[in-house]
Amino acid sequence: MSHEEQVRIFDTTLRDGEQSPGCSMNVEEKRRLARQIDRLGVDIIEAGFPISSDGDFQSVQAVARDNRRPVIAALARCCPQDIERAWEAVKIAARPRIHTFLATSDIHLQHKLRISRRECLERARDAVRLAKSLCEDVEFSAEDATRSDVDFLCQVLEAVIEAGATTVNIPDTVGYTVPAEYAELIHTLGRRVRGIANGSLSAHCHNDLGLAVANSLAAVSAGARQVECTINGIGERAGNASLEEVVMAMRVRPDRYPFHTTVNSEHLFAASQLLSEITGVPVQPNKAIIGRNAFAHEAGIHQDGMIKNPLTYEIMTPQSVGVPETRLVLGKHSGRHGLQLRCAKLGFQLDRHELDRVYRLFLALADHVKVVDDNCILDLIRQARISSSSSGHVSEPVRESVRAAAANSVGMVPFPVPDHRNGQRQPLTIPASTPPHEGEQQEDYLWGV
Ligand code: KIV
Ligand code: ZN
Repeated sequence: MSHEEQVRIFDTTLRDGEQSPGCSMNVEEKRRLARQIDRLGVDIIEAGFPISSDGDFQSVQAVARDNRRPVIAALARCCPQDIERAWEAVKIAARPRIHTFLATSDIHLQHKLRISRRECLERARDAVRLAKSLCEDVEFSAEDATRSDVDFLCQVLEAVIEAGATTVNIPDTVGYTVPAEYAELIHTLGRRVRGIANGSLSAHCHNDLGLAVANSLAAVSAGARQVECTINGIGERAGNASLEEVVMAMRVRPDRYPFHTTVNSEHLFAASQLLSEITGVPVQPNKAIIGRNAFAHEAGIHQDGMIKNPLTYEIMTPQSVGVPETRLVLGKHSGRHGLQLRCAKLGFQLDRHELDRVYRLFLALADHVKVVDDNCILDLIRQARISSSSSGHVSEPVRESVRAAAANSVGMVPFPVPDHRNGQRQPLTIPASTPPHEGEQQEDYLWGV
C-alpha cells in the first residue's frame, strides 16, 4: 500500500475524447472501450453527455450498468433538462456522478451565453443544487476557467461548493495557459475559495499549445488531486491531456511527483490500440508511451547502448506499459552491433569478415529503403557468402531486396527483450560465439562505409 497521496484519474475519452473529429462511437463501441478503461483501473469514467443524443443516453446507461467499480459520470449543462437527463442515464451506476458545467470567462458570458456574471453565478448554484438533490457526487466545471477573472471564479466556486459540489474542475478549455500560470491559479483557488475541501480541485487541460500534460502535472504539484484526461490524448481540436503520459510521468518521476494513481499501466498499450481500432484514427508513431516508435531504436549508437544495457536509452520498460517488446529497427543509421545481433537471431553467427561484408551491403541497401527487414537481411547474408568481394556495389540479388523492401518499407524488427525482475532492466547479451570485436569501444555507425 503506497503512503503517497493519490491523484484520481478521470477518464473522459468517451465524452471529451469522443468530441474529437472522426472519433464518435456508437453504444457497442463505447461499451467495449469502457470495459478496457475499467480494466485500466481509472477512478472515474465520464461516459457521455446524455442530453446530446439518445445514443449517448443509452451509452451512459450501458456503461453505468456494465462497470460497477469506478465512478461513472454524466455531463450536463447548467440547466434542469440536462441535469435530469444526465441523472436518468447515470442513476443505475453503482457510483454515479453528475458533472455540470458553465462558462465563467467574460468572453464566453458576453459572446456565447449572453448573460451577466450575476446570472452565471445563480445558474451555476441552482444547477448544482438540483444535481445535489438527485446525486450525492456532483462535479462542477467552470468552463474557460483559465481566461476567467480570478475574483469572479472564486465567487462562483464558493457558491457551487456551498450548494453541494464535491469536485470543482478548472478547465483550460482552449489550451491557453502555461504550466507556471496554471499552477499559480490552482494554488490561489486552493487558498482563497472558502469551503474548498482538500483534494477537491481538478485539472482539465486541452493541448492547443502542446502543454496539456505539462499543465496537468503543474496543477497536481499545486494541489489538484484529480486529472481529467483521455487515452491517446484525443479530444476537441488538438486534444486533451494524454492519460498515458500523465500516469507514466508520475510513475517514472516519483522524485518530482510523489503521488500514486490506481492505473494498471500494463494495460495502457491495449487501451490505446483498442481506441485506435474502434475509431479508425491511428496513433502518431512518435507518440510518447504508446506510439509505434516509443520503444524502437534505429541509430547505431543507440542500438549499441541498448544491447549493452537498456538503461542507456529507455527510461521505462516497454512491458511496464504493455508494449510487447523493444524493437531494433535496422535502417541507414544502424550499426554493426545491431546488425550482428539481428543476424544471430536469424541463426547466422557471422565472423568479423562476414559481418564486414554484410554490413557494407546493408548500408548500400539502407540508402534506398527506410527499414531493412529480415528477408532483406537473409538476402544480404546469402549475397555476402556468394561473393567474397566487399565493394559495397549493389548487385542483382540486393537490388531485388531493395525492390522488396521498398514495397514493404515499414517492417519492424523485434529487439530481444532482456529478462527483468521487479521491473529492473538487465543488459542484453550477444551470443557467446560472437564476442565484441577487439578494440571496439563504441559503435560507429559510419564504420566501414
Ligand atoms: O474543456 C472543457 O471546458 C470541458 C468542460 C465541459 C469540462 O470539456
Ligand atoms: Zn474539455
